[in-house]
Amino acid sequence: MATHALSTRVSEMLGAKYPIFGFTHEIDVVVEVCLAGGIGVYGGTRNTPEEITEALEEISSRVGDLPFGIDLVLPKNMPEKNNREEIEAELPNAHRNFVDHLYEKYNVPRDNLPGARSRFVRSEEVARNQLDAVLRSDAKIFAMGVGSPPEMIGAAKEFGKTVLSLVGAPRHAEKALDAGADLIVAQGYDAGAHTGEIGTFSLVPQIVDLVAGKVPVLAAGGVATGRHIAAAFALGAEGVWMGTPWLTTKEHNTSPKMLNQLLNASSNDTVRSRSDSGKTLRMIKSAWSEEWDTEGNPKPLQMPYHDILVGDLLGSISRHQVEPLLHQPAGQGIAFFNEVKTVRETMEAFVAEASAVVQR
Ligand SMILES: Cc1cc2nc3c(=O)[nH]c(=O)nc-3n(C[C@H](O)[C@H](O)[C@H](O)COP(=O)(O)O)c2cc1C
Repeated sequence: MATHALSTRVSEMLGAKYPIFGFTHEIDVVVEVCLAGGIGVYGGTRNTPEEITEALEEISSRVGDLPFGIDLVLPKNMPEKNNREEIEAELPNAHRNFVDHLYEKYNVPRDNLPGARSRFVRSEEVARNQLDAVLRSDAKIFAMGVGSPPEMIGAAKEFGKTVLSLVGAPRHAEKALDAGADLIVAQGYDAGAHTGEIGTFSLVPQIVDLVAGKVPVLAAGGVATGRHIAAAFALGAEGVWMGTPWLTTKEHNTSPKMLNQLLNASSNDTVRSRSDSGKTLRMIKSAWSEEWDTEGNPKPLQMPYHDILVGDLLGSISRHQVEPLLHQPAGQGIAFFNEVKTVRETMEAFVAEASAVVQR
């Protein structure tokens, strides 16, 4: 692989042109990131093991020998079984009534279909089967979104995967290192979806110092331009990990209403809320986050109870495009994306600007 201004240990170790990771739930985006020289990572946590196998086979067949990854969120203390009835039996009445009230207040159709969060119960059983699908796949890279269970890192390494751990605080990085992670993604407060309390600029150099060169660190959370990529290098990161930039790309399957919200959103239009999954998740502000944040309304439950409480409702809001409850995860960097571009154009702009800044 030829070296250039953005080459680092990470691009060399993985055989990619650029140490730029693109996290996404869209197969087409994963493929285009890889074809443009980056490393596409498929977010598979809401997919069944069979779907994960199918998606990874498709990606592999479309990108050939280029490296790509798969990300799973594997939180601790989930129930053993994928048993929806058991979880439903424990949902408090006040919460069920509030969800009924939201259906009525916003005229959300009751179509009796599950949403992404309620297709199955996040459980030890599902996690084991998802991991099994990952291990048997051609994906070279396995990323763990929340937590770094040593037994899962060990299993992935036995199967020859390069393991990445997403961390939001120095203590999480220590655990990930001890568990054997090959790369650490330091993901700061600005980030879309599940995110912690520490800002990217404070977090990245702390993690870089803590890791002390043992493994490379990637910067994540608000990395949205080539300038951010150059800044990440200056902070000691050897690559970047991005999720928000792909949401407004041509290849991303975003509905016209959602796309309009994203293209017009400023950094102020995102909020961290537990209202989607039970864990703090940065999303576009909407009546959804406001309802759950209103004094006197029930507070979100813990994962996976909240997933099952609101999963069908969220599914219907999305299927029927029910404004003003429509929303989705996005980071503060959304302010930088005001027009639709292809993934390749987006990558080319990142690389050109970052290279110029690094050289300067
Ligand atoms: C729409 C969306 C969905 C996400 N879903 C996941 C996920 O399933 N697993 C995960 O590890 N991270 C997820 N993330 C977080 C990304 O992996 C990444 O850390 C984050 O987007 C980086 O910050 P940025 O949003 O500022 O680019 C998601 C992010 C977005 C924007």
